[in-house]
Amino acid sequence: MFRAIDVIQKKRDGQELTAEEIDFFVSGFGRGAIPDYQASALAMAVYFRGMSAAETLRLTRSMMLNGAVLDLSELAGPKVDKHSTGGVGDKTSLVAAPLAAACGVFVPMISGRSLGHTGGTLDKLESIPRFRVSLSLGEFRSVLHQCGLSYIGQTPDIAPVDRMLYALRDVTATVESLPLIAASIMSKKLAEGIDGLVLDVKCGDGAFLPRLEDARALAHSMLAIGHGEGKRIAALVTNMDQPLGRAVGNALEVAECIETLKGRGPRDLASLSIELAAWMIYLGALAPSIDAARARAREALKSGAGIEKLRQVIDWQEGDPRVCDDLSLLPKAAETIAVRAPRDGRVKRIACRIIGQASMLLGAGRSTVTSRIDPAVGIVLHKKIGDLVIDQEPLLTLHVNDRQPLQRCLDLLDHAFDIEREAPPVAPLVREVILPDEK
Ligand code: URA
Repeated sequence: MFRAIDVIQKKRDGQELTAEEIDFFVSGFGRGAIPDYQASALAMAVYFRGMSAAETLRLTRSMMLNGAVLDLSELAGPKVDKHSTGGVGDKTSLVAAPLAAACGVFVPMISGRSLGHTGGTLDKLESIPRFRVSLSLGEFRSVLHQCGLSYIGQTPDIAPVDRMLYALRDVTATVESLPLIAASIMSKKLAEGIDGLVLDVKCGDGAFLPRLEDARALAHSMLAIGHGEGKRIAALVTNMDQPLGRAVGNALEVAECIETLKGRGPRDLASLSIELAAWMIYLGALAPSIDAARARAREALKSGAGIEKLRQVIDWQEGDPRVCDDLSLLPKAAETIAVRAPRDGRVKRIACRIIGQASMLLGAGRSTVTSRIDPAVGIVLHKKIGDLVIDQEPLLTLHVNDRQPLQRCLDLLDHAFDIEREAPPVAPLVREVILPDEK
């Protein structure tokens, strides 16, 4: 018979926990037999002592199996999802998933909401009039069947222990632990009943883990878990030193995704979305090579099959599909305010996190889990790193409904752009592609 205190003490002293000890702790915490203070203490011990690959895999499996695991075996095709660790203007789920689905991949996407400076897919989708993300698992399954793609939020029965533990980590300074992050993300993703998973692990100023080494370590940890669970999996470590695309804010981002699926979007968003869709197609074994998969993803964009898939999923989830042809049906802010360049030069650096924070202040994101989102507000960038700028040219346009946070937002944005005579070469968007057997 185990005792929670012994498990905590063992981890505190830097020893490896057994599978049985981890299962005991997860199930005890899940049914309320282990109190919050002991779960918090274990999270802090893991924060300082870390976990081995075997412990992290067991924690993931245990949290996954403590809830519902979808069985989508009735779907006649590969089931592959994509997960991003989050960023600013990071909207590829609304472009890559329709492209992959248009090529025959079933995409069961369980997404999150915005928190802090990063955005969330569910909030973006909810800016489409009447779009419903709170489907039951039965409805989710049915949309997937009909359309090949469905977006929902984490339901109470998927990885419930992760939800409970994350709430504690959030208030006990234990979020930033690689094994806990890896187990948290993967327990939810593996519960989706997928065959494959593409991870977009962000690094750079606007990322959850800014340092490349940390992003790489997180990628390796999640790859090992996915591989250990028998999934086809790949990780792209991608740059978040500036927002992806030009729009930051929910309806603004949906509009940009629609434009991108029509071939008129920003180049960085289009190329990363094609890359992610290509990996989804390749891992789904629908193309013999990544190059062939890339060609299929590009063709889905060019032919309009991707925008057609987005239109279908909006319709299936009760949103207004006419937004795909008429962007004026999306919510619109009351006023726009330009932020102008203080001098001539080139954009040397963009403080990506500050752009995310400013957008959150305007109401596009959440400072706490209970903050209310305004779907219409946000920021549009007119300049990206390396661009030539003329004195007083607009750098940004703010889309504003509430003027109350405006001054704080403008003060923050004072530090958002470095304009110098010379700009550095732009870093590649995809820094690394990592596969499970590499080290
Ligand atoms: N996202 C998650 O789902 N879990 C974490 O722990 C961190 C980011």
